[in-house]
Amino acid sequence: MTLKSRFDFHTQIDRLQSASEKWDGREKIFGAPDALPLWVADMDFAAPQEVLDALQQRVTHGVFGYTFRTPQYFEAVVNWMQTRHNWSIESEWITFTPGVVPALAFAVEAFTKPGDKIAIQTPVYPPFYNVVRENGRQLVMNPLRVSEQGDYSMDFDDLESKLADDVKMLILCSPHNPVGNIWSREDLAKLADICLKHEVLVIADEIHADLIFEAQSHIPFAAVSDAARDNCIVCTAPSKTFNLAGLSVSNIIIPNRKLRLTFERTVSKMHGLGSISTLGATATEAAYRHGGEWLDELLVYVRGNMEYVQAQIQEYLPELSVKLPEATYLLWIDFRGLNMNAKDLMQFLLHKAGLALNDGTMFGIEGAGYMRMNVACSRSVIEQAMEQLKAAVAELRSSK
Ligand SMILES: Cc1ncc(COP(=O)(O)O)c(C=O)c1O
Repeated sequence: MTLKSRFDFHTQIDRLQSASEKWDGREKIFGAPDALPLWVADMDFAAPQEVLDALQQRVTHGVFGYTFRTPQYFEAVVNWMQTRHNWSIESEWITFTPGVVPALAFAVEAFTKPGDKIAIQTPVYPPFYNVVRENGRQLVMNPLRVSEQGDYSMDFDDLESKLADDVKMLILCSPHNPVGNIWSREDLAKLADICLKHEVLVIADEIHADLIFEAQSHIPFAAVSDAARDNCIVCTAPSKTFNLAGLSVSNIIIPNRKLRLTFERTVSKMHGLGSISTLGATATEAAYRHGGEWLDELLVYVRGNMEYVQAQIQEYLPELSVKLPEATYLLWIDFRGLNMNAKDLMQFLLHKAGLALNDGTMFGIEGAGYMRMNVACSRSVIEQAMEQLKAAVAELRSSK
């Protein structure tokens, strides 16, 4: 791996006092203001220069009235999906919400009724639970299988039996957060068939789709078959890819016209969200138009961070284990060898190792003993984190 890059991912940008949830939120969320923040999924990197330039130009204009999505905006999104994911989409399929989690919640509202059953594949991103429960729907769990070696896969027998019991919707995480899987075309086709058979609508959260490593490809759920395309809502966004989460952007792609009109009615008529954020639209278009090369280099850098963490664990921390994910900038680390319950593990990491990670149990009971580590930061932060972790574990060993 070479660290030489046209782009500077190496210099850590000071994010303190920028109202950063990840950095400035540590005191409130963890009670540990100095713990290295390797938790919530945003990156410590600046967005690509072309995005900053486009935003600056738009800010200089000075007028921020209601904004619509221009033909150039749609062209940028359509081209991105074609070139990055070999997926041909039509402009008219693209609708928007101020983020992907809102889109999940709107879909739950638009296509199910209170009391309806909605399936998720656990362990999974915590808002999947919230948008179901807090909207008065019932959660149905289809836990992923995990092998002794730590490889995750879908449990189709369990899925089939659960969906047969009057489930109305499945929220798919593809690629999967936190386990980092890319789902194969075969997996997605099988899932699509089971959902069609039981008339279960698929909401595919594909926010991590661009964050995939060499020799892998993400298959959009809607590209699996014509029948799958007509039975899904695909949630995409440039926010993880280009670190734009604070701009509240997304592109929700709904090929089926009837589904799209129902979704749009919920978003724009029932909730009055009719107009896209001006700066969000500017950043999205610039990122998709010009950000490809930046993204390729980012992925090399992030992969290097992952390999570094894995090598450190293999060499110095035999109690831990981690597999390199196929996608995302998140590591799902198995800490069970430390023999601590979830609460003690969290306290140990925060106060002994000085690390703020995401507790695995946030993602479901299957996450007990695991932690999610966000490695989208400069190598120096990752090196420091591993030094602190090694020292804390060494102290723990000697105290036993
Ligand atoms: C699977 C998944 N969906 C959605 C989001 C957040 O989406 P947004 O910020 O656009 O609501 C995240 C952020 O970590 C995520 O991992």
